[in-house]
This record gives sequence, C-alpha cells and structure tokens, in this order.
Amino acid sequence: MWSVTRHRLLLCLRVFQSGPSHFCSSFVVLSQRVMQRNLVKYFHSARPLSRARIVLGIETSCDDTAAAVVDETGRILGEALHSQKDVHLKTGGIIPPVAQKLHRENIEEVITQAIERSKVSSSELTAIATTVKPGLALSLGVGLEYSLKLVAQFKKPFIPIHHMEAHALMIRMINPVTFPFLVLLVSGGHSILAIARGVTDFQLLGQSLDEAPGDTLDKIARRLSLIKHPQCGTMSGGQAIEHLAKEGNRLMFELKLPMSQNLDCNFSFAGLRNQVNQIISKKEKEEGIQNGQILSCAADIAASAQHTIAVHVAKRTHRAIMFCKMSGLLPDKDSALVVSGGVASNQYIRKVLQVVANATKSSLLCPPPHLCTDNGVMIAWNGIERLSVGQGILHNTEGIQYEPKAPLGSNISEQVKNAAIKLPRLKFTV
Ligand code: KG4
Ligand code: ZN
Repeated sequence: MWSVTRHRLLLCLRVFQSGPSHFCSSFVVLSQRVMQRNLVKYFHSARPLSRARIVLGIETSCDDTAAAVVDETGRILGEALHSQKDVHLKTGGIIPPVAQKLHRENIEEVITQAIERSKVSSSELTAIATTVKPGLALSLGVGLEYSLKLVAQFKKPFIPIHHMEAHALMIRMINPVTFPFLVLLVSGGHSILAIARGVTDFQLLGQSLDEAPGDTLDKIARRLSLIKHPQCGTMSGGQAIEHLAKEGNRLMFELKLPMSQNLDCNFSFAGLRNQVNQIISKKEKEEGIQNGQILSCAADIAASAQHTIAVHVAKRTHRAIMFCKMSGLLPDKDSALVVSGGVASNQYIRKVLQVVANATKSSLLCPPPHLCTDNGVMIAWNGIERLSVGQGILHNTEGIQYEPKAPLGSNISEQVKNAAIKLPRLKFTV
C-alpha cells in the first residue's frame, strides 16, 4: 500500500537528492555515433545512483516515441522523446503505417538515450513498463515488441501500462495527492472524467461520445490552414489554437455549447467542429479567399472555439464533482481535481477549470505541460506505482498482447445520468 508516510518520506528524499533531472527534449537528435551503440553496453557501463526501485518506461501508443528511467522517489534519471509531429502536420493527420515506420526507426535510439542519460545499470533496473493499451494498433505493436526483447535480454519483470491510467497518475510523482481524487483526462484520443480510487482502481463518470478535444482542435487548426501561419507552422493544432486565440476576440462568433440539455458527464465535440467549419466556409466566401489561405478573423475563430471547448469541459467537470460529493465518492472538503493529457497543457482551459475548482472548493492540480502531453516519464512512474501496490507485474510475458481499445475502470456513467444534476450558474470570464 502506498501509504501517506511512505509518500512523504519519498518526497523528502527527492528534495534531498541533488542530481539533475533530464526533462523532455522535444526532439531527439539522432547521431550516427550513438546509433551504432548497443543498449547492453550502456547498462553494464553505468554506475549505481540510488537504491530505490527504478523503472524503464516506454511509450509508443500514438505519435511520440518516448522513454524514461524514473526511480521510486520520483526522480527522472534519464529521458528522451522523438516527436513525429512535423511529419504528421505535413500529411494532415496521423497515418498509422507512417507512425509505425517512424516508431521503428526511432525506438532503439530513444531508449538508448534515456538509459544513457540515467547512467543506470541493468542490475539496478527493477522492471520495464510499456504502454500496451489503448492506442493505434500499429504504434502499440512496435513498443511492445521492442520491450519484450529487452525484458528477455535483461531478465526483468514486465509491467503492461494503460496509457490513460499513466496520464491520471502522473500528478502523484510531483504532488502526493491521495486517493480518491477526480481526474479529467483530455487529449488527442480521449476525453474522460473518472474517479481515481487507487493505482489500478478507476470509476468512469463520463467520456466523449464522438471525438476527443485534441482531435477537434487539430482539425480546426488544419481547416484554418494554421500550418501556413508564420508563428504556428510547427505547433500541434491545440498549441496553434491556444497561441492564436490570445490575439482573438471570442465574442465575435457565438458557438452553441454542446450537450447543454444532457444532465450527464459525457462530452461531444464533433457538432462544435461542424459549427466552426460552417463559419470558416462562410467567412472564406465573404473574404474571397481560397482554401489554404488564412482568414483575417482566424484568431477570433480560434478564441471562440477554445472558449466553447473549455466551458463544455468545465461544465461536465462541475457536474462530476457535484455527483461525487453528493454520492460520498469524494470528500466534501479538500478534494482534488487532477487534469492531464495533451489538452490539459492549455493555459486558457486551465483557467476556466479553476473557476469550477474555486466554486466547488477543490484543488486544481495539473502536471507541467511537458508531462501532460505523451512522455516516457508517466509510463515509468505508472510502473513505480504498480510496483508499490504489487499489481500487474508480469514475470512471464507469454501471450501478452496490445489492445487498441481499452476502457478505464468500471463505467458508472448511467448513475451520473440518472442523478440528472442541474448546475448552478458560473461565470466563465477569464
Ligand atoms: O496526450 P497527448 O500528447 O496524446 C494523446 O494521447 O492523444 O495529446 C495530444 C493532443 C493533440 O491533439 C494536441 O493538439 C493537444 O494534445 N495539445 C493541446 C495543447 N498542446 C497539445 N491542446 C490544447 N492546447 C495546447 N496547448
Ligand atoms: Zn496521451
């Protein structure tokens, strides 16, 4: 059991340790010299750093190839990440065989870099943890296959990781938040509200009925041709919308809030995207511009879309908090609202969620942006968490498979719907 005392002790130890943390490098530079090196060599040449449990985490569920070595005090010993963003921006979205090819080309290099930076030897490594669900089948397959080779080579236990569980638990590496807490996960593939009751124990309150908010933002950014924008060309869709929205006036376009009549905690973003697309088409006609050019009102559209997504997410979260408090699933006082996933790095959305946190006397907790988007640290940390509770640690990997679709926890969204909670009005002016 991950007791409070143990967590505090580990935090003290983390503060005491003075070694540098290797935070995300957004892109791994592939040098010929390093490419020729062999992983085994790194493991055997490194010097011991700590007696704590140490996990190598590997992530390839979507378009980032990431790896990290993390110890049980939450110290990031080594980290590397190769982003495929630039390639997918050019092709107008993730093409799974392209993602698979890029994972294959980069996985060895990324893992090698993470291990090299950690200076950890194979004997010090407690286990290898890898995302096996949910995600793109072709991408998950690369990470799993490579991990199983390492597991056999180093004779280490294997910890299969649920990508969304890893996003949800990431915060505990930084802040000793205790269970239960409410978690909102918003990314390119998911929109989830769940109660985290334990490391492997989640209750699902609501999820997206169509697309995920990150996907919506990526598609709106593409429709606005933001790749051609001088400041946004290399940003992900969500980042580009956030950047542009700062100069925009959200009041220029009124968008209908999704699902305002549904008194549950599910989400929907596809209808909102249609509304935005209609506005863009109308404005393109008015301004006489061709598809591919940037509208003069692009910033206003970005601001309006971002605001509507933020308020939709905030209202569903507000209802989730009220449901949990009414049902005794969360403490009435001092409950935590944890927000993570790529879209959680959006500062505007965080501010809107802060309004809900203030109104419900909850603490809003978000990992720093680079630990909200996909990374190897969250996978390694999830491995540490699972070691602490002794669950899901495999000493025999025979028959293990990846799962492209995998729910998070038990689904209690019908109970939420039946409670039909009406929300008090909140002013979301931030
Ligand atoms: O969690 P993540 O890295 O990958 C998935 O598991 O999906 O999330 C990626 C998503 C992308 O859709 C990206 O556009 C979005 O997160 N994103 C953002 C921001 N940064 C990344 N969305 C809104 N604002 C941001 N600053
Ligand atoms: Zn993710």
